[in-house]
Amino acid sequence: MSSIKEPVIIHKGLDGVYVKESRICYVDGEASRLFYRGYSIEELTAKSTYEETAYLLIYGALPSKTQLQEFVKRIEDYRPIDSGILQLLQSLPSTCNALDALRTAISALGAYDPEPETTSWGVGGMEARIDKSLQILAKTPTIIAAFDRLRNHQDPINPKPGLSHAADFLYMLSNNVPDAYDTRVMDVALILHAEHEMNASTFACTVTASTLADMYSIITSGICALRGPLHGGANEAALKTVMEVGDPSNAEAYVTQALAEKKRIMGFGHRVYKTWDPRYKVLKKIGTELAERKGQTTLFNTALAIESSALRHLAGSPIFPNVDSYSGLVFHMLGITIDLFTPIFALSRIAGWTAHSMEYLESNRLIRPKALYVGQIGLEYVPIEQRPA
Ligand code: CMC
Repeated sequence: MSSIKEPVIIHKGLDGVYVKESRICYVDGEASRLFYRGYSIEELTAKSTYEETAYLLIYGALPSKTQLQEFVKRIEDYRPIDSGILQLLQSLPSTCNALDALRTAISALGAYDPEPETTSWGVGGMEARIDKSLQILAKTPTIIAAFDRLRNHQDPINPKPGLSHAADFLYMLSNNVPDAYDTRVMDVALILHAEHEMNASTFACTVTASTLADMYSIITSGICALRGPLHGGANEAALKTVMEVGDPSNAEAYVTQALAEKKRIMGFGHRVYKTWDPRYKVLKKIGTELAERKGQTTLFNTALAIESSALRHLAGSPIFPNVDSYSGLVFHMLGITIDLFTPIFALSRIAGWTAHSMEYLESNRLIRPKALYVGQIGLEYVPIEQRPA
Protein backbone atom coordinates (compact mmCIF):
# COMPACT_ATOMS: atom_id res chain seq x y z
CA MET A 1 0.00 0.00 0.00
CA SER A 2 1.36 3.37 -0.92
CA SER A 3 0.32 6.61 0.69
CA ILE A 4 1.28 10.27 0.59
CA LYS A 5 2.33 11.88 3.83
CA GLU A 6 3.33 15.46 4.48
CA PRO A 7 4.80 16.78 7.70
CA VAL A 8 1.57 18.46 8.72
CA ILE A 9 -0.42 18.99 11.87
CA ILE A 10 -4.08 18.06 11.56
CA HIS A 11 -6.31 20.52 13.42
CA LYS A 12 -9.24 18.23 14.14
CA GLY A 13 -12.29 20.35 14.85
CA LEU A 14 -10.09 23.33 13.85
CA ASP A 15 -9.36 23.80 17.58
CA GLY A 16 -7.23 26.86 18.08
CA VAL A 17 -7.18 27.79 14.37
CA TYR A 18 -7.76 31.49 13.61
CA VAL A 19 -9.39 32.22 10.23
CA LYS A 20 -9.44 36.02 10.42
CA GLU A 21 -8.96 39.06 12.62
CA SER A 22 -12.25 40.32 13.99
CA ARG A 23 -13.73 43.35 15.71
CA ILE A 24 -17.14 41.79 16.29
CA CYS A 25 -17.04 39.60 19.36
CA TYR A 26 -14.63 38.73 22.13
CA VAL A 27 -15.20 35.50 24.02
CA ASP A 28 -12.98 35.23 27.07
CA GLY A 29 -13.37 31.55 27.83
CA GLU A 30 -11.06 31.66 30.84
CA ALA A 31 -12.62 34.63 32.63
CA SER A 32 -16.29 34.10 31.77
CA ARG A 33 -16.59 37.28 29.70
CA LEU A 34 -18.35 38.05 26.42
CA PHE A 35 -18.30 41.33 24.50
CA TYR A 36 -20.12 42.39 21.32
CA ARG A 37 -18.14 45.17 19.60
CA GLY A 38 -16.55 45.96 22.94
CA TYR A 39 -19.77 46.08 25.01
CA SER A 40 -20.22 43.41 27.68
CA ILE A 41 -23.15 41.05 27.39
CA GLU A 42 -24.27 42.12 30.88
CA GLU A 43 -24.38 45.77 29.75
CA LEU A 44 -26.26 44.96 26.54
CA THR A 45 -28.83 42.65 28.13
CA ALA A 46 -29.50 45.26 30.82
CA LYS A 47 -29.71 48.32 28.56
CA SER A 48 -30.09 47.47 24.88
CA THR A 49 -32.69 45.87 22.62
CA TYR A 50 -32.30 43.14 20.02
CA GLU A 51 -32.72 45.65 17.17
CA GLU A 52 -30.08 47.98 18.58
CA THR A 53 -27.72 45.06 19.24
CA ALA A 54 -28.23 43.75 15.69
CA TYR A 55 -27.37 47.23 14.38
CA LEU A 56 -24.29 47.33 16.58
CA LEU A 57 -23.10 43.94 15.37
CA ILE A 58 -23.74 44.59 11.69
CA TYR A 59 -22.66 48.23 11.40
CA GLY A 60 -19.97 48.22 14.09
CA ALA A 61 -21.21 51.03 16.39
CA LEU A 62 -24.28 51.88 18.43
CA PRO A 63 -26.81 53.78 16.30
CA SER A 64 -27.96 57.35 16.81
CA LYS A 65 -31.64 57.79 17.66
CA THR A 66 -32.47 58.50 14.00
CA GLN A 67 -30.39 55.60 12.74
CA LEU A 68 -32.13 53.23 15.15
CA GLN A 69 -35.59 54.51 14.17
CA GLU A 70 -34.76 53.99 10.49
CA PHE A 71 -33.34 50.53 11.18
CA VAL A 72 -36.38 49.47 13.20
CA LYS A 73 -38.72 50.78 10.48
CA ARG A 74 -36.75 48.98 7.79
CA ILE A 75 -37.07 45.67 9.64
CA GLU A 76 -40.75 46.32 10.31
CA ASP A 77 -41.39 46.96 6.61
CA TYR A 78 -39.58 43.76 5.62
CA ARG A 79 -41.50 41.47 8.02
CA PRO A 80 -44.42 40.35 5.79
CA ILE A 81 -43.77 37.23 3.69
CA ASP A 82 -44.90 36.33 0.18
CA SER A 83 -48.02 34.14 -0.08
CA GLY A 84 -45.87 31.63 -1.97
CA ILE A 85 -43.74 31.14 1.16
CA LEU A 86 -46.91 30.57 3.19
CA GLN A 87 -48.08 27.99 0.65
CA LEU A 88 -44.71 26.30 0.84
CA LEU A 89 -44.91 26.14 4.65
CA GLN A 90 -48.44 24.78 4.42
CA SER A 91 -47.33 22.06 2.01
CA LEU A 92 -44.78 20.64 4.45
CA PRO A 93 -45.77 17.46 6.30
CA SER A 94 -47.01 17.92 9.86
CA THR A 95 -44.07 15.79 11.02
CA CYS A 96 -41.58 18.34 9.66
CA ASN A 97 -39.18 19.71 12.26
CA ALA A 98 -39.45 23.50 12.63
CA LEU A 99 -35.78 24.09 11.82
CA ASP A 100 -36.15 22.03 8.65
CA ALA A 101 -39.13 24.22 7.75
CA LEU A 102 -37.13 27.39 8.43
CA ARG A 103 -34.15 26.13 6.43
CA THR A 104 -36.46 25.34 3.49
CA ALA A 105 -38.27 28.69 3.70
CA ILE A 106 -35.11 30.81 3.92
CA SER A 107 -33.72 29.01 0.92
CA ALA A 108 -37.04 29.63 -0.87
CA LEU A 109 -36.87 33.36 -0.01
CA GLY A 110 -33.88 33.44 -2.36
CA ALA A 111 -35.97 31.84 -5.07
CA TYR A 112 -38.70 34.47 -4.60
CA ASP A 113 -36.18 37.33 -4.77
CA PRO A 114 -35.87 38.41 -8.42
CA GLU A 115 -32.37 39.68 -7.67
CA PRO A 116 -30.85 37.41 -5.00
CA GLU A 117 -27.34 38.30 -6.12
CA THR A 118 -27.31 42.09 -5.80
CA THR A 119 -23.68 41.98 -4.91
CA SER A 120 -21.90 44.39 -7.21
CA TRP A 121 -18.56 44.63 -5.47
CA GLY A 122 -17.33 47.52 -3.33
CA VAL A 123 -18.99 49.51 -0.55
CA GLY A 124 -22.36 49.67 -2.37
CA GLY A 125 -22.25 45.92 -2.78
CA MET A 126 -21.76 45.50 0.96
CA GLU A 127 -24.80 47.63 1.74
CA ALA A 128 -26.85 45.66 -0.80
CA ARG A 129 -25.77 42.45 0.92
CA ILE A 130 -26.68 43.84 4.34
CA ASP A 131 -30.07 44.86 3.01
CA LYS A 132 -30.73 41.31 1.79
CA SER A 133 -29.70 40.03 5.18
CA LEU A 134 -32.02 42.42 6.98
CA GLN A 135 -34.87 41.17 4.82
CA ILE A 136 -34.08 37.63 5.95
CA LEU A 137 -33.68 38.74 9.58
CA ALA A 138 -37.04 40.53 9.45
CA LYS A 139 -38.94 37.68 7.79
CA THR A 140 -37.55 34.86 9.94
CA PRO A 141 -39.91 35.39 12.93
CA THR A 142 -42.84 35.63 10.52
CA ILE A 143 -41.83 32.33 8.90
CA ILE A 144 -41.32 30.49 12.20
CA ALA A 145 -44.61 31.72 13.66
CA ALA A 146 -46.56 31.01 10.45
CA PHE A 147 -45.18 27.46 10.28
CA ASP A 148 -46.08 26.81 13.91
CA ARG A 149 -49.63 28.04 13.44
CA LEU A 150 -50.18 26.25 10.12
CA ARG A 151 -49.09 22.91 11.55
CA ASN A 152 -51.58 23.48 14.38
CA HIS A 153 -54.37 24.20 11.85
CA GLN A 154 -54.45 27.90 12.75
CA ASP A 155 -54.30 30.85 10.37
CA PRO A 156 -50.97 32.67 10.28
CA ILE A 157 -50.95 36.09 11.95
CA ASN A 158 -49.62 39.08 10.03
CA PRO A 159 -46.85 41.13 11.67
CA LYS A 160 -48.16 44.06 13.74
CA PRO A 161 -46.46 47.36 12.96
CA GLY A 162 -45.19 49.12 16.07
CA LEU A 163 -44.17 45.95 17.92
CA SER A 164 -40.53 45.15 18.60
CA HIS A 165 -38.89 42.11 17.00
CA ALA A 166 -39.30 40.16 20.26
CA ALA A 167 -42.89 41.24 20.92
CA ASP A 168 -44.00 40.72 17.32
CA PHE A 169 -42.61 37.20 17.28
CA LEU A 170 -44.51 36.26 20.45
CA TYR A 171 -47.60 37.98 19.05
CA MET A 172 -47.47 36.12 15.74
CA LEU A 173 -47.09 32.81 17.59
CA SER A 174 -50.01 33.27 19.97
CA ASN A 175 -52.23 36.01 18.46
CA ASN A 176 -51.82 37.87 21.77
CA VAL A 177 -49.68 40.95 22.22
CA PRO A 178 -47.27 39.91 25.01
CA ASP A 179 -46.92 41.95 28.17
CA ALA A 180 -43.82 44.06 28.79
CA TYR A 181 -42.23 41.42 31.03
CA ASP A 182 -42.44 38.52 28.53
CA THR A 183 -41.33 40.87 25.76
CA ARG A 184 -38.25 41.85 27.73
CA VAL A 185 -37.41 38.20 28.49
CA MET A 186 -37.59 37.36 24.79
CA ASP A 187 -35.61 40.47 23.89
CA VAL A 188 -32.83 39.52 26.32
CA ALA A 189 -32.79 35.94 24.99
CA LEU A 190 -32.43 37.29 21.45
CA ILE A 191 -29.55 39.58 22.49
CA LEU A 192 -27.80 36.65 24.18
CA HIS A 193 -28.02 34.48 21.06
CA ALA A 194 -27.20 37.20 18.52
CA GLU A 195 -23.48 36.50 18.25
CA HIS A 196 -20.73 34.21 19.49
CA GLU A 197 -17.56 34.54 17.43
CA MET A 198 -16.45 31.72 15.11
CA ASN A 199 -18.78 28.92 16.20
CA ALA A 200 -19.83 26.12 13.79
CA SER A 201 -22.75 27.95 12.17
CA THR A 202 -20.86 31.24 11.80
CA PHE A 203 -17.98 29.37 10.23
CA ALA A 204 -20.41 27.63 7.86
CA CYS A 205 -21.73 31.06 6.82
CA THR A 206 -18.17 32.35 6.40
CA VAL A 207 -17.20 29.42 4.18
CA THR A 208 -20.21 30.06 1.95
CA ALA A 209 -19.57 33.83 1.97
CA SER A 210 -15.98 33.21 0.88
CA THR A 211 -17.28 31.74 -2.39
CA LEU A 212 -19.08 35.10 -2.97
CA ALA A 213 -22.46 33.36 -2.72
CA ASP A 214 -25.67 35.34 -2.14
CA MET A 215 -27.00 36.11 1.36
CA TYR A 216 -29.79 33.50 1.16
CA SER A 217 -27.18 30.79 0.60
CA ILE A 218 -24.99 32.19 3.38
CA ILE A 219 -27.78 32.27 5.98
CA THR A 220 -29.11 28.87 4.89
CA SER A 221 -25.62 27.43 5.52
CA GLY A 222 -25.74 28.77 9.07
CA ILE A 223 -29.13 27.19 9.70
CA CYS A 224 -27.87 23.83 8.42
CA ALA A 225 -24.97 23.90 10.89
CA LEU A 226 -27.35 24.70 13.76
CA ARG A 227 -29.29 21.49 13.14
CA GLY A 228 -27.21 19.16 15.28
CA PRO A 229 -27.45 18.68 19.05
CA LEU A 230 -23.85 19.74 19.68
CA HIS A 231 -24.57 23.31 18.56
CA GLY A 232 -28.09 24.67 18.03
CA GLY A 233 -30.05 21.67 19.21
CA ALA A 234 -28.60 21.49 22.72
CA ASN A 235 -31.27 23.62 24.42
CA GLU A 236 -34.03 21.34 23.15
CA ALA A 237 -32.13 18.32 24.43
CA ALA A 238 -31.47 20.03 27.79
CA LEU A 239 -35.16 20.80 28.31
CA LYS A 240 -36.19 17.28 27.29
CA THR A 241 -33.79 15.95 29.92
CA VAL A 242 -35.31 18.20 32.59
CA MET A 243 -38.80 17.03 31.61
CA GLU A 244 -37.79 13.37 31.65
CA VAL A 245 -36.12 13.71 35.03
CA GLY A 246 -39.36 15.37 36.12
CA ASP A 247 -38.57 16.09 39.76
CA PRO A 248 -35.56 17.39 41.70
CA SER A 249 -35.41 14.13 43.66
CA ASN A 250 -34.57 12.18 40.46
CA ALA A 251 -31.70 14.44 39.42
CA GLU A 252 -28.83 12.75 41.24
CA ALA A 253 -29.72 9.28 39.91
CA TYR A 254 -30.04 10.64 36.38
CA VAL A 255 -26.68 12.43 36.41
CA THR A 256 -24.86 9.48 38.04
CA GLN A 257 -26.20 7.05 35.45
CA ALA A 258 -25.67 9.38 32.48
CA LEU A 259 -22.04 10.00 33.36
CA ALA A 260 -21.44 6.31 34.12
CA GLU A 261 -22.74 5.53 30.62
CA LYS A 262 -20.45 8.26 29.18
CA LYS A 263 -23.45 10.30 28.08
CA ARG A 264 -23.15 14.07 27.86
CA ILE A 265 -25.17 16.33 30.11
CA MET A 266 -26.84 18.66 27.64
CA GLY A 267 -26.32 22.33 28.43
CA PHE A 268 -22.89 21.60 29.85
CA GLY A 269 -19.44 22.03 28.33
CA HIS A 270 -18.12 24.39 25.70
CA ARG A 271 -15.26 24.43 23.22
CA VAL A 272 -14.22 27.93 24.32
CA TYR A 273 -15.59 28.46 27.84
CA LYS A 274 -13.64 26.44 30.33
CA THR A 275 -15.58 28.15 33.09
CA TRP A 276 -19.10 29.57 33.48
CA ASP A 277 -20.71 30.76 30.25
CA PRO A 278 -21.71 34.39 31.01
CA ARG A 279 -24.91 33.92 28.96
CA TYR A 280 -25.89 31.09 31.28
CA LYS A 281 -25.71 33.44 34.26
CA VAL A 282 -28.11 35.95 32.67
CA LEU A 283 -30.56 33.22 31.65
CA LYS A 284 -30.50 31.49 35.01
CA LYS A 285 -31.40 34.77 36.72
CA ILE A 286 -34.28 35.36 34.29
CA GLY A 287 -35.38 31.74 34.62
CA THR A 288 -35.54 31.96 38.40
CA GLU A 289 -37.87 34.97 38.20
CA LEU A 290 -39.91 33.59 35.33
CA ALA A 291 -40.48 30.25 37.10
CA GLU A 292 -42.08 32.10 40.03
CA ARG A 293 -44.22 34.26 37.75
CA LYS A 294 -45.40 31.31 35.63
CA GLY A 295 -45.78 28.80 38.48
CA GLN A 296 -43.22 26.42 36.93
CA THR A 297 -41.07 25.95 40.00
CA THR A 298 -40.96 22.11 39.93
CA LEU A 299 -39.53 22.10 36.43
CA PHE A 300 -37.11 24.88 37.26
CA ASN A 301 -36.01 23.24 40.51
CA THR A 302 -35.41 20.02 38.57
CA ALA A 303 -33.06 21.92 36.27
CA LEU A 304 -31.32 23.40 39.30
CA ALA A 305 -30.95 19.95 40.86
CA ILE A 306 -29.48 18.49 37.64
CA GLU A 307 -27.09 21.42 37.50
CA SER A 308 -25.86 21.08 41.07
CA SER A 309 -25.50 17.31 40.77
CA ALA A 310 -23.59 17.61 37.47
CA LEU A 311 -21.35 20.30 38.92
CA ARG A 312 -20.54 18.03 41.86
CA HIS A 313 -19.73 15.06 39.61
CA LEU A 314 -17.75 17.16 37.12
CA ALA A 315 -15.86 19.14 39.75
CA GLY A 316 -12.23 19.58 38.75
CA SER A 317 -13.06 19.30 35.03
CA PRO A 318 -13.44 22.32 32.71
CA ILE A 319 -17.09 21.42 32.07
CA PHE A 320 -19.53 24.10 33.26
CA PRO A 321 -23.11 25.02 32.34
CA ASN A 322 -23.47 26.81 29.01
CA VAL A 323 -26.14 29.07 27.49
CA ASP A 324 -28.33 26.07 26.67
CA SER A 325 -28.81 24.81 30.20
CA TYR A 326 -31.59 27.35 30.86
CA SER A 327 -32.49 28.87 27.48
CA GLY A 328 -34.87 26.04 26.57
CA LEU A 329 -36.53 26.29 29.96
CA VAL A 330 -36.99 30.04 29.55
CA PHE A 331 -38.55 29.59 26.09
CA HIS A 332 -40.78 26.82 27.45
CA MET A 333 -41.99 29.09 30.26
CA LEU A 334 -42.86 31.69 27.62
CA GLY A 335 -45.19 29.07 26.13
CA ILE A 336 -42.99 28.22 23.13
CA THR A 337 -43.02 24.74 21.58
CA ILE A 338 -39.79 22.81 22.02
CA ASP A 339 -38.77 22.43 18.38
CA LEU A 340 -38.94 26.21 17.93
CA PHE A 341 -35.94 26.77 20.21
CA THR A 342 -33.32 26.20 17.53
CA PRO A 343 -35.23 28.31 14.97
CA ILE A 344 -35.21 31.10 17.61
CA PHE A 345 -31.44 30.69 17.92
CA ALA A 346 -31.25 31.16 14.12
CA LEU A 347 -33.65 34.12 14.22
CA SER A 348 -31.34 35.90 16.59
CA ARG A 349 -27.98 34.73 15.21
CA ILE A 350 -28.68 36.11 11.71
CA ALA A 351 -27.23 39.36 13.07
CA GLY A 352 -23.92 37.69 13.98
CA TRP A 353 -23.82 35.60 10.79
CA THR A 354 -24.27 38.77 8.75
CA ALA A 355 -21.64 40.71 10.67
CA HIS A 356 -19.04 37.96 10.28
CA SER A 357 -19.79 37.32 6.60
CA MET A 358 -19.45 41.04 5.85
CA GLU A 359 -16.25 41.31 7.87
CA TYR A 360 -14.74 38.32 6.07
CA LEU A 361 -15.73 39.69 2.66
CA GLU A 362 -13.93 42.97 3.38
CA SER A 363 -10.71 41.09 2.60
CA ASN A 364 -12.03 37.89 1.16
CA ARG A 365 -10.02 34.76 0.53
CA LEU A 366 -11.75 31.58 -0.60
CA ILE A 367 -11.72 29.13 2.31
CA ARG A 368 -10.09 25.99 1.06
CA PRO A 369 -8.26 23.93 3.69
CA LYS A 370 -6.58 20.62 2.95
CA ALA A 371 -7.09 17.00 3.90
CA LEU A 372 -4.04 14.82 4.41
CA TYR A 373 -4.48 11.88 2.06
CA VAL A 374 -3.59 8.62 3.75
CA GLY A 375 -5.24 6.23 1.26
CA GLN A 376 -3.78 4.26 -1.63
CA ILE A 377 -2.84 5.51 -5.09
CA GLY A 378 -2.19 3.88 -8.47
CA LEU A 379 -4.68 1.03 -8.01
CA GLU A 380 -5.56 -0.96 -11.11
CA TYR A 381 -9.24 -0.70 -12.16
CA VAL A 382 -10.89 -4.14 -12.00
CA PRO A 383 -13.98 -4.65 -14.22
CA ILE A 384 -17.08 -5.39 -12.12
CA GLU A 385 -17.44 -8.94 -13.52
CA GLN A 386 -13.99 -9.79 -12.20
CA ARG A 387 -14.56 -8.46 -8.65
CA PRO A 388 -15.43 -10.82 -5.81
CA ALA A 389 -19.23 -11.21 -5.34
N1 CMC B 1 -21.27 16.16 29.79
C1 CMC B 1 -20.39 15.24 30.17
N2 CMC B 1 -19.14 15.15 29.71
C2 CMC B 1 -18.76 16.09 28.83
C3 CMC B 1 -19.62 17.10 28.39
C4 CMC B 1 -20.92 17.12 28.91
N3 CMC B 1 -21.81 18.03 28.52
N4 CMC B 1 -18.97 17.87 27.51
C5 CMC B 1 -17.75 17.37 27.38
N5 CMC B 1 -17.62 16.27 28.17
C6 CMC B 1 -16.45 15.44 28.30
C7 CMC B 1 -16.34 14.50 27.11
O1 CMC B 1 -17.08 13.31 27.30
C8 CMC B 1 -14.86 14.27 27.05
O2 CMC B 1 -14.52 13.34 28.03
P1 CMC B 1 -13.36 12.25 27.74
O3 CMC B 1 -12.12 13.06 27.53
O4 CMC B 1 -13.34 11.42 29.00
O5 CMC B 1 -13.77 11.50 26.53
C9 CMC B 1 -14.29 15.61 27.49
O6 CMC B 1 -15.31 16.25 28.24
C10 CMC B 1 -13.92 16.50 26.32
O7 CMC B 1 -14.99 16.51 25.40
P2 CMC B 1 -14.93 17.24 23.99
O8 CMC B 1 -16.12 16.89 23.17
O9 CMC B 1 -13.59 17.02 23.38
O10 CMC B 1 -14.98 18.74 24.48
P3 CMC B 1 -15.34 20.00 23.64
O11 CMC B 1 -14.82 21.15 24.37
O12 CMC B 1 -14.96 19.85 22.23
O13 CMC B 1 -16.95 19.94 23.72
C11 CMC B 1 -19.18 20.42 23.38
C12 CMC B 1 -17.77 20.99 23.53
C13 CMC B 1 -20.17 21.58 23.41
C14 CMC B 1 -19.30 19.70 22.03
C15 CMC B 1 -19.45 19.42 24.54
O14 CMC B 1 -19.19 20.01 25.78
C16 CMC B 1 -20.86 18.86 24.52
O15 CMC B 1 -21.14 17.90 23.76
N6 CMC B 1 -21.80 19.43 25.34
C17 CMC B 1 -23.16 19.02 25.36
C18 CMC B 1 -23.93 19.71 24.23
C19 CMC B 1 -24.13 21.19 24.52
O16 CMC B 1 -24.53 21.58 25.60
N7 CMC B 1 -23.89 22.00 23.48
C20 CMC B 1 -24.11 23.43 23.54
C21 CMC B 1 -22.84 24.22 23.45
S1 CMC B 1 -23.13 25.94 23.85
C22 CMC B 1 -24.02 26.51 22.51
C23 CMC B 1 -23.15 26.94 21.43
O17 CMC B 1 -22.38 27.91 21.61
O18 CMC B 1 -23.26 26.35 20.33
